[in-house]
Amino acid sequence: ANERESMYLVSEFAQKHFSEMLWNSELGKAIGLSYFKERGFTDEIIKKFGLGYCLDQWDGFTMAALDKGYQLKYLEKTGLTIVKQDANNPNNPKKFDRFKARVMFPIHSMSGRVLGFGGRILKNDKKAAKYLNSPESDIYHKSKVLYGIYYAKQAIAKEDNCYLVEGYTDVIQFYQRGIENVVASSGTALTPEQIRLINRLTKNITVLFDGDAAGLRASLRGIDLILEQGMNVKVCSFPEGEDPDSYAKKHAFEEVKTYLEENSKDFIQFKANLLAKEAANDPIKRAETVRDIVNSIAKVPDAIKKEIYIQECAQIMNVSEGVLFTTLAQISKKER
Ligand code: CTP
Ligand code: MN
Ligand code: MN
Ligand code: MN
Ligand code: MN
Repeated sequence: ANERESMYLVSEFAQKHFSEMLWNSELGKAIGLSYFKERGFTDEIIKKFGLGYCLDQWDGFTMAALDKGYQLKYLEKTGLTIVKQDANNPNNPKKFDRFKARVMFPIHSMSGRVLGFGGRILKNDKKAAKYLNSPESDIYHKSKVLYGIYYAKQAIAKEDNCYLVEGYTDVIQFYQRGIENVVASSGTALTPEQIRLINRLTKNITVLFDGDAAGLRASLRGIDLILEQGMNVKVCSFPEGEDPDSYAKKHAFEEVKTYLEENSKDFIQFKANLLAKEAANDPIKRAETVRDIVNSIAKVPDAIKKEIYIQECAQIMNVSEGVLFTTLAQISKKER
């Protein structure tokens, strides 16, 4: 427990250090702060989310931390510092700042402790990963955290709905626009633990997809996990080439709200419509599609909701309710 506390403390120091560099160093202001401003983030929101900048130096952050008495052991365990043994100098290994020359997004727990970071390169160059994240550690388990949950939790409970987006900047841009009930899965496939965090606050999730198609089909599977927890799921996609961040940056609060209201669709209806369209003229594909949809319906724990979904999907897929109920019974039997 003491080890983990030491890891929290060094992470909190790192968050403060990166913020300090962003606001008070010449290069931090010129490079990091101006990057965030270009993205349309206000001073207030940059401070609220504790954003920062890691200078373009090999070990500037690491040296500052060691100077303040933080132990190398915890810098290494949290992944903030990469340590390489030096054969010529065994008592003095080489140390590198993991996040060199990146703008920094601290990742907080539900209770507001800093668990890790996402760091973004400034230019979209193809050689480096756009985002680099803290490695798994004793305090950071990426499958168990949702970016933004600390800031969003009250609004999620109050609105009785949670918007689930893909990225860090989607969360921040929405929040700044006044839509505060928003969290991100940070590009990983959704996990049951992440859904449980939301389930404690509301039974309603609206999943917002980037308008780049890639994510869409893959995400449909993850959504079955939400149904399994007895939650209601809506989905909403954005226009081609847009994500929630870029859309919200260009539109006022009222317009974003209207867009969400008009484009959020019940997940099972959405999936049935999507697949029905794709399989329209192909009987074999249609049969697969029916099975796929019924698989999702089978995840819904509530019997009444199940029945309503069956009725709706029979219409959308143009098959009889009877055949859907039979398929449902087969799937339920197999799962038992
Ligand atoms: N991501 C990641 N590593 C990458 C790319 C993406 O961890 N190399 C995660 C990040 O959490 C990112 C999310 O997946 O926020 C969504 O990815 P993407 O849509 O590509 O990025 P955006 O959040 O839209 O980032 P930006 O607007 O800064 O380009
Ligand atoms: Mn652990
Ligand atoms: Mn994307
Ligand atoms: Mn995106
Ligand atoms: Mn984006």
